[in-house]
Amino acid sequence: MPWLVRDAVHDINKAVARRWQGLDPLLPEPSDLPEGCMAPLLSTGENGRPSGLGVCRHQRVPADTLAQTWGAATKFVLTVRVREADTRPAADDLLTQWCEHLETQPEAKADDTAAIVNWPARDITGVPALLRHGLRPMTVIAARPKARQTTAATPAEGLVIRPARPDDLDRVTELEMGVVRYDAHFGGSVPRPATEALVRAESRVALARRPGWTWLAEQDSQPVALTVVEPPDAATWIAGMTRPGATAYLQTMFVRPGERSGGIGACMVRHVHGELDARGIDLTLLHYAQVNPLSAPFWHRMGYRPLWFSWEARPASTLR
Ligand SMILES: CC(C)(COP(=O)(O)OP(=O)(O)OC[C@H]1O[C@@H](n2cnc3c(N)ncnc32)[C@H](O)[C@@H]1OP(=O)(O)O)[C@@H](O)C(=O)NCCC(=O)NCCS
Repeated sequence: MPWLVRDAVHDINKAVARRWQGLDPLLPEPSDLPEGCMAPLLSTGENGRPSGLGVCRHQRVPADTLAQTWGAATKFVLTVRVREADTRPAADDLLTQWCEHLETQPEAKADDTAAIVNWPARDITGVPALLRHGLRPMTVIAARPKARQTTAATPAEGLVIRPARPDDLDRVTELEMGVVRYDAHFGGSVPRPATEALVRAESRVALARRPGWTWLAEQDSQPVALTVVEPPDAATWIAGMTRPGATAYLQTMFVRPGERSGGIGACMVRHVHGELDARGIDLTLLHYAQVNPLSAPFWHRMGYRPLWFSWEARPASTLR
């Protein structure tokens, strides 16, 4: 990286750290920039000094991983850092440059692709630029700090919540697939031929963990709901999206369709939160699809609030 760019990165990161801290105490320190497909895109302010930068990464998500069920097969991800409090001019400029770059990439013209920008939820000045370039807020990363109070849930009558065991594999896989199918309506998931086998394999590993981080709720001995959490050692892939601490990731929450709206979800989550608080988890993250009409209000009532939005243009060629 030429020295001029290296200095700009250092300088902008310092300013972004200050800005993010003022915006949202749950945001992390901006990390070092990832290695991009080319030198960082630079935006220059009116005074001639760099006001923002962007790093583009091309990610081909392997078909034999569950990551391909949770988004496009090829992702172009732009990491953006903007110095000024009004991020709009620099964000607009960087997105224009990025669009020109993607137009030169033949693989960005394929259908199963997405152009993605993760943007801090409270950094609202950049939203007009994201919208202007054809990006849509698809998914939310929401956060719940330890022991945050939620409205009390009336225990659903006869509900038994218990840790799932290895012999629950069929039940857990079926309920996991319920979430995948439901989220597909909102583009949150993209069911693939390999999805069910991969879910099963991942669940088998999760159910062998001790202590377990998977819970089932039963009514009349029938499974009606599932919650799956990734403990901190498995959640490192997302922990960098928030401040340091013991960060868990709530991967799955599902209540059978006929059992919803009776308080089962709230009871289950309160139970799991009690476990997480007791196990020393400082903060729990989760994803929900922005237009999922059930999960967005549910998670807010359960003490979660938006931390990041994932803005996407799908396919990538619809970025403008
Ligand atoms: C999101 C989900 C887990 C919520 O589970 P749930 O069991 O329906 O949740 P609850 O019953 O606790 O709360 C939902 C509603 O029931 C109401 N409710 C809660 N307790 C109640 C009680 N004791 N009696 C009557 N109603 C009650 C709530 O007020 C809420 O109503 P509202 O949505 O009209 O505001 C469930 O809808 C689901 O599985 N959705 C599909 C999959 C999904 O979206 N998963 C999350 C992906 S991120």
